[in-house]
Amino acid sequence: MADGKVGTNLTRHIYQKQMEHPEATGELTGILNQVAFAAKIVSREVNKAGLVEILGLTGMENVQGEEVQKLDDFANEVFINILGKSGHFCIIATEEEAEAITVPEGYKRGNYSIALDPLDGSSNIDFNIAIGTIFSVHRRVTEDEGEGEQDLMQPGRKIIAAGYVLYGSSTMLVVSTGDGVHGFTLDPSVGEFLQSHTDIQIPDKGNIYSINEGNYPYWTTGVRKYIDFLKEKDKASGRPYSGRYIGSMVADMHRTLLKGGIFMYPADKKDPKKPGGKLRLLYECAPFAFLVAHAGGAASTGTGPVLDVVPEDLHQRVPFFAGSKHDVSQVEWFVGKYDEDKE
Ligand code: AHG
Ligand code: MN
Ligand code: MN
Repeated sequence: MADGKVGTNLTRHIYQKQMEHPEATGELTGILNQVAFAAKIVSREVNKAGLVEILGLTGMENVQGEEVQKLDDFANEVFINILGKSGHFCIIATEEEAEAITVPEGYKRGNYSIALDPLDGSSNIDFNIAIGTIFSVHRRVTEDEGEGEQDLMQPGRKIIAAGYVLYGSSTMLVVSTGDGVHGFTLDPSVGEFLQSHTDIQIPDKGNIYSINEGNYPYWTTGVRKYIDFLKEKDKASGRPYSGRYIGSMVADMHRTLLKGGIFMYPADKKDPKKPGGKLRLLYECAPFAFLVAHAGGAASTGTGPVLDVVPEDLHQRVPFFAGSKHDVSQVEWFVGKYDEDKE
């Protein structure tokens, strides 16, 4: 029997946060509502992807040289359209666009920039495996008509809001504006994101490691030794760890946020064009580093905090190790001991 009690929805949650921070401009409420609006539209398509002609490849390649899935394209268009016309942003960067996108003629340039991975986990789209969207919001730093790229090229320390959408068995929006990490689950019957997780905290130490073991031959010595270490039998330290790898960063990081452990995409020697690993700083690593930090965890390049990396290129890649503080500091020890000594 429904008790008539309705949980907090995204709008009320942000509004309550805003009341606690009178200095906030109120724009964050609008920004997150626009992200949620776009997420609902993408969620609708994801949930019927198997039924309409939206699966498969577009036959095009993106700036990453990767084949573009139709759903990648659709999600990219939806977020650019909705956010570009929202009046909140002066510039937008997405994984699917080589250059940053300026605000269309006739629409207000706002006080924020946003970097997006519109559809994360593309290789899983056709197999009904969880995929997602990742976003990261900075305050504008250029004056009125600045060219805008600098508004995007800011370190993760300066992020003012970041989050992800997980299109899984249910659609979830997990977000932080710097005051805790909170989760909202979409109730499609009312079209609202209702709060389902409050102040997510990562356990200090986990017992799950998440990495693509197929790249083992290409890793540095330190990473190989760390993974070998996790597989040794040592009851006192909870080893061997369990291996879990979905191949969608959003899904692997969502589990890491909730259960602890460590997710890794190290630099590898597999593709000379990608010396810094596969994951992009602006719209994959920095937003997740921000979320992990506000959930009591850590995110490292292996030699230092991801949040301190100053971007040099929109699509710059960095090695990424994130999750429980204990586990991240342990992999940093192995990298420091075996990789630096080898130089
Ligand atoms: P995207 O689909 O946005 O290109 O991201 C895919 C990324 C990330 O989601 C995932 O963690 C990683 O690629 C998996 O890479 P491998 O298949 O090389 O393990
Ligand atoms: Mn991605
Ligand atoms: Mn993507």
